[in-house]
Amino acid sequence: MSTQLTPILSAFWDVERSWTLETYEQHEGYDGLRAALKMDPTDLVAAAKESGLRGRGGAGFPTGMKWGFLPPPDGGPRYLVVNADESEPGTCKDTPLMMAAPHFLIEGMIITSLAIDCHHAFIYVRGEIVHVYRRLLRAVEEAYAAGYLGKDILGTGFDLDITVHAGAGAYICGEETALLDSLEGRRGQPRLKPPFPAVAGLYARPTVVNNVESIASVPSIVLHGADWFAGMGTEKSQGFGLFSLSGHVERPGQYEAPLGITLRELIDMAGGMRGGKKLKFWTPGGSSTPIFTDQHLDVPLDFESVAAEGSMLGTRALQIFDESVSVVRAVSRWIDFYAHESCGKCTPCREGTFWLKQILERLEAGRGHEGDIEKLDDICDNILGRSFCALGDGAVSPVTSGIKYFREEFEQGMHTPWHELFPAERNTLF
Ligand code: NAI
Ligand code: SF4
Repeated sequence: MSTQLTPILSAFWDVERSWTLETYEQHEGYDGLRAALKMDPTDLVAAAKESGLRGRGGAGFPTGMKWGFLPPPDGGPRYLVVNADESEPGTCKDTPLMMAAPHFLIEGMIITSLAIDCHHAFIYVRGEIVHVYRRLLRAVEEAYAAGYLGKDILGTGFDLDITVHAGAGAYICGEETALLDSLEGRRGQPRLKPPFPAVAGLYARPTVVNNVESIASVPSIVLHGADWFAGMGTEKSQGFGLFSLSGHVERPGQYEAPLGITLRELIDMAGGMRGGKKLKFWTPGGSSTPIFTDQHLDVPLDFESVAAEGSMLGTRALQIFDESVSVVRAVSRWIDFYAHESCGKCTPCREGTFWLKQILERLEAGRGHEGDIEKLDDICDNILGRSFCALGDGAVSPVTSGIKYFREEFEQGMHTPWHELFPAERNTLF
């Protein structure tokens, strides 16, 4: 497996005005669409399947298979909805991608719409990131003006409109069915699955919901071939992806590489640990994925290898913490987020995250009670697998993995506040 940097999505981010249509067209932009317009839709679905592309939003579900789940056309509308509501703590890849090269996403959406026979597609973007919303609006406008969107695209008779919709800042609206409710104008809360959106999604019509990076990867697959894409990465986690390094490294940022690269290699690319300090713990895919430690530096970052070690590849949001950081404090911050963002629909998550927050706050302050660690474990046990959606399950990950690897720090929280245990952490985190 090759682990060399593979700049495809990020190949021209440092070119001046990289986000314009002009720059995009100078870098093979819309060549994939021209190729796709000559292909049969079933061949496009087959190419996505053969490439091995798996959802880049966290779950890693095979993209081509998802497209293939749509029932045969019945004359009614079918929708593509791009999930651009990136909000997981640590996850920060779709935002720079949409800022630096939004046409990857738009071209990918047109090709995907061809594949699934969709004529109205949506981008659901976080409302708080107004600059991204504006950039997308401008890029969509450019695409309409150039004849890539609207009626009779490039004279082929294919019609497609794209609507960019800004959400209102709820983390739960990144859950695909809550996102659909929100897009329909309702309060965003998860729906019961099945039916999956592929069968009954937006306005109860067949809908493909895909992540930004998944869709943005499609043009290069069509242009260079499924085998080219499948030749990168590992046997079951094919292709490349954006790895977001944040925290205590010298050069935090986006590093594009084939799946299967290790954190050790990525830290090298990022100039090493900040100030030469020692790695203590990290998240492989955002705060919803169980933490890893320095024992996991050489775990290949692909779906299977990370799962075999007890975590999840998730969104490749690698939050790096050095030895100066209190695990209890970091876990407490994350739980604060989940308790705030819990949508309240189901009891285990709504009440459980609130209780976790109470206990973690007192452990952080050095005022823990006897039995608190057992209580944390018990509450997590009652959330995991009993919650209505993945938010609840994700919320327990930092707690259970934090206790698994750093139990003694939770025990110290019975009597010593974090700032006495980790005086160097002050002002370096959050
Ligand atoms: P999931 O595994 O339930 O579903 C994955 C996708 O496959 C969905 O689009 C679903 O509709 C589809 N699918 C699964 N089985 C299907 C079937 N039998 N028929 C038709 N379609 C089917 O995962 P989910 O809940 O969509 O996502 C959870 C993931 O999201 C977590 O792994 C987490 O890492 C990630 N996440 C990402 C965030 C971000 O900001 N990007 C935020 C929070 C979580
Ligand atoms: Fe809402 Fe949490 Fe239940 Fe999901 S798990 S439905 S976010 S309360």
